[in-house]
Amino acid sequence: MTRTVGLIGLGEIGLTYLEALGHLPAVRVAGVFDPGLADDVILGVPRSASLAELAAAAGDGIIVATPTATHAEVCRDLLRLRRPPRVLLVEKPLGPTLRDVEGILTNAGLAGCDVQVLYHVAYAPEVAWGVGVHAALGPLEGGVAEIDCHFSDLVPAGEEERFRKAFSSSWVDLGINALSVLKRFVRLESLELDDADESAGWYRARSGFVDAAGAAGVARLSTAWSGDDKRTTIRFRSGAELRLDHQRVTGDLVGATSATSFALGDAVPRLVAHYVPMLSEILVEGHRRFSPSDDVTLHRLLLGGIA
Ligand SMILES: NC(=O)c1ccc[n+]([C@@H]2O[C@H](COP(=O)([O-])OP(=O)(O)OC[C@H]3O[C@@H](n4cnc5c(N)ncnc54)[C@H](O)[C@@H]3O)[C@@H](O)[C@H]2O)c1
Repeated sequence: MTRTVGLIGLGEIGLTYLEALGHLPAVRVAGVFDPGLADDVILGVPRSASLAELAAAAGDGIIVATPTATHAEVCRDLLRLRRPPRVLLVEKPLGPTLRDVEGILTNAGLAGCDVQVLYHVAYAPEVAWGVGVHAALGPLEGGVAEIDCHFSDLVPAGEEERFRKAFSSSWVDLGINALSVLKRFVRLESLELDDADESAGWYRARSGFVDAAGAAGVARLSTAWSGDDKRTTIRFRSGAELRLDHQRVTGDLVGATSATSFALGDAVPRLVAHYVPMLSEILVEGHRRFSPSDDVTLHRLLLGGIA
């Protein structure tokens, strides 16, 4: 059975969606809506003239891939349609403030629409591999004691203001990636922002967690709009480390009794490699990995400290 989806926003990540969805024969892009696109751009998929036209054509879900600061308004306009979408898939994070996040979830609930957040790194192949290693070997290595998680993106010179307006801060933009990855390994309990230099674009935070055996540990999170590095290191009580490189789509278990590693290779770009399994799981398998209460918890941890 073919699923039909619509896409709102065809910027950097909207193009990644088109490429990733091209790897899923069971999904058809019924339309794209982006008033910012020049008229002569050739998309290879239908262009919708309005949100209503897109929602009518895309029966299995609408993907919102506009700048984070616009998610609440775009979702509100969709949910006010005479026939609102049944399923809304929204780029991470849901919004830059808790007010935006709660507004989206409340409006969706009233309209009977299922909202899912697209935490692409949490579905990435290296994370899926790491989750398997953690489940098999974590207890033998004494459980998780500490985690370090660093996400940085290089913001081109002169683009800082545009990024702040569209994506808020490196913390809002990338901290949600760190939290959604951590959620795959441990139960997150608390978060404190330790230090930040908003003008330089970096943030440091600490999150308390509980591992599968109920033991407490601490995760150190950092984000920056400089460099281009995305890593998670999970340290077991034995001293062994599970090292995930989200930029290279690789993983290594080092210092354990049995060493193992993972590499996807470079046949597809990193973001496409991250998005294909996420879209397959949500759209083709119909599986919901993050519950609505997970979404609330992750966004409260992310945004609670900067409210
Ligand atoms: N760029 C990345 O590497 C990346 C990675 C993962 C997630 N994301 C997330 O994807 C989302 C989009 O980011 P991006 O980098 O693609 O942004 P972008 O600025 O490159 O593109 C945004 C597009 O949305 C369109 N748009 C803006 N307002 C709109 C509206 N009201 N209705 C329809 N279209 C509208 C713009 O014309 C533009 O084409 C953000 O939430 C971001 O956090 C981005």
